[in-house]
Amino acid sequence: MKIVVIGGTGLIGRQVVANLRRLGHDAIPASPASGVNTLTGEGLAVALHDAEAVVDVANSPSFEDAAVMAFFQTSGRNLLQAEAEAGVRHHVALSVVGTNRPHAPAYLQAKLAQEQLIEASSIPYTIIRATQFFEFMGVIADEGTRGDLVRLSPAAMQPVASRDVAQALAEAVLAEPMNGIEEIAGPERAPFAEFVATWLGHRDDSRRIVVDPAAPYFGVPITDTTLTPGANARIMPTRFDAWLSASSGNGRSE
Ligand SMILES: NC(=O)c1ccc[n+]([C@@H]2O[C@H](COP(=O)([O-])OP(=O)(O)OC[C@H]3O[C@@H](n4cnc5c(N)ncnc54)[C@H](OP(=O)(O)O)[C@@H]3O)[C@@H](O)[C@H]2O)c1
Repeated sequence: MKIVVIGGTGLIGRQVVANLRRLGHDAIPASPASGVNTLTGEGLAVALHDAEAVVDVANSPSFEDAAVMAFFQTSGRNLLQAEAEAGVRHHVALSVVGTNRPHAPAYLQAKLAQEQLIEASSIPYTIIRATQFFEFMGVIADEGTRGDLVRLSPAAMQPVASRDVAQALAEAVLAEPMNGIEEIAGPERAPFAEFVATWLGHRDDSRRIVVDPAAPYFGVPITDTTLTPGANARIMPTRFDAWLSASSGNGRSE
């Protein structure tokens, strides 16, 4: 089956492409690096020719609030229109657990806008909402860093390995469209501060953590329910310590 992976050069995308190729599918990575740009529409019609399904795991190059909203809205519209014209039969997208919660960070509001475009389109779809990737721990640490202190919320998170997310996406695109949303998360729930402390310790990073209930997550205050999955979430197998042990020095393992 020809499956186009939009953002197929990224952290998740390249693992989705590899998983699908291992299973014998014609998985095509599409992104600006290969002349396919969902923001401008460039290369989309050619890339989608004869494709049965699309996995969209593109990400905005800028995390600035307005830029992220513009990226997911414009890309979503262009991609879904091109898919409709090409006769694509299944659209799979990766979103984030928490997009539908009150007072979500701006990035999650942009992902919600992306979800709403998919739900309103004519294309059968599956949306997978994942929690924060283990690989994102460094970005979370850096976001809270001032000098050698990292200010972090005691709120809970339940992060997941990117390879487990890629596995779930490959399974989703090979199954019938859900026309709905599935949440996925890792097997352990603990405070942000605890996961980041373990990550810093693994890297011999000397920054010290300050636990502060008022510490924002990308600009907004969070509680135990802001970013954790609901009771029906699919729990993926990889534990954080197992992932860390298998990781290279930069904390990434793929
Ligand atoms: N980080 C997390 O913890 C987390 C949690 C849940 C869900 N997610 C979602 O996971 C998805 C994938 O994230 P990731 O970390 O794998 O991203 P990433 O490594 O930053 O890769 C981003 C991909 O998007 C492509 N891209 C950028 N601009 C594009 C454009 N105009 N048109 C088409 N493709 C474009 C890039 O292509 P080039 O290489 O050619 O530039 C690259 O392949 C995102 O949608 C994100 O919202 C993330």
